[in-house]
Amino acid sequence: MFARRIAVVGSGYVGLTTGACLASLGHRVICADVDPDKVDRLSAGRVSILEPGLSELVAEGLAAGRLEFVLGASKAVLDAEVVFMCVPTPMGVGGAADLVAVESVISEVRDLLPAGCVVVNKSTVPVGTAERMHQLLNRPDIAVVSNPEFLREGSAVHDFLNPDRIVVGSSAQDAAERVAALYARLGAPTVLTDAPSAELVKYAANCFLAMKLSYVNAIAELSERLGANVADVTEGIGYDRRIGQAFLQPGPGWGGSCLPKDTHALIQAADAVDFDFMLLRATIDTNTRQRQRIVTKIREACGGSLDGVRLGLLGLTFKAGTDDLRDSPALAVAELLREEGAELTAYDPGVAHAVPGVTDTVRVVDDAYEVAKGAAGLVLLTEWPEFRTLDWARVASLLEGRVVVDTRNHLDPDVLRRAGLSWRGVGMQPVD
Ligand code: UGA
Repeated sequence: MFARRIAVVGSGYVGLTTGACLASLGHRVICADVDPDKVDRLSAGRVSILEPGLSELVAEGLAAGRLEFVLGASKAVLDAEVVFMCVPTPMGVGGAADLVAVESVISEVRDLLPAGCVVVNKSTVPVGTAERMHQLLNRPDIAVVSNPEFLREGSAVHDFLNPDRIVVGSSAQDAAERVAALYARLGAPTVLTDAPSAELVKYAANCFLAMKLSYVNAIAELSERLGANVADVTEGIGYDRRIGQAFLQPGPGWGGSCLPKDTHALIQAADAVDFDFMLLRATIDTNTRQRQRIVTKIREACGGSLDGVRLGLLGLTFKAGTDDLRDSPALAVAELLREEGAELTAYDPGVAHAVPGVTDTVRVVDDAYEVAKGAAGLVLLTEWPEFRTLDWARVASLLEGRVVVDTRNHLDPDVLRRAGLSWRGVGMQPVD
């Protein structure tokens, strides 16, 4: 393997994971960011993102002299053979991806890029962006390659180093092969294709995952109504290798910084070419409805009204293992509960006391038992492992009411029953 000189623009979880992992594979990596504090922190080896293994890889890369952090893309690209674009592409007006950051980096580095280097886009961007970047660069000697990432927050390092596949797309075959070679040591199946196909792979994957989850949440509702048990139903379908066991866990709906943004962006892209993506619309609608359905379940468990009812919430982040609250279904449910007059106290292992925007909805405390004190019921919204091993007898002694609504089917209903509590799951029959 050739050790390459690589620049990574953007030090969010994707950029930082990409940089640190490529350095661990032996490449020489310079990561750029626009935030001077972040650059200082990272240069000192301080990683503030909750990503297992990332701090260690950053420390290792810094110590080996293979990883460096600089302020501004222009400093990073001067000597680069490959430039990875890992800047944010948030949801813009009308749901389409906002490409301001991508465009501004292009104009910043256009005249600085060494001849013959390859610009690789890792940000999730609309189909056609690689071509647009090529035009904006206006440098016939520089190829643009699409290389989407499939990293999950909370297991980004693991996902980078153990990929299910590598996807690389470009109209320049040799550039695509050079990028694919960077990952050669990982031994993953590699899809070499054109740029629009690579760009669409990312949306098609995330939207499929969203669709799978909305389907599962619908099957969970149907299970409740038909007297079935969704855990057995999903196990039963998951053994079919065409379906698979992953991503079959019902919950309060899917959220986070990717699935909501990417489903809306693909609807936009489809609309723009006069394609009514009904299946994807239904996927989003089902997800919105799921949050409401969870609130109905909680209301019913509390006797028909939430007005003035004190509830304890376990979890606020969009999934366990992250401190990310963006588009969190837990927060969306909390807001709906608040609108119905519930008084909320929450604990989340990833969320500190004062979080702007959250504290208006819910009082955040730093202890799960504190949440239970005097509450009419508990609602588990995020599947943190530590919630399973709470002392449920102690929880029961602190609670005023008896009911625990487990929106992730995460707890053991028998343990709760033995503690004198009633368990309400999703797609499962109640346990009293
Ligand atoms: C997602 C994709 O899984 C990654 O492959 C992709 O790279 C990433 O988006 C991205 O585009 O950058 P992430 O947003 O970190 O990753 O979160 P997921 O683990 O996919 O979870 C998404 C949502 O689905 C969460 O709210 C989670 O709680 C929910 N979920 C997931 C379920 O409700 N049930 C499940 O069985 C799995």
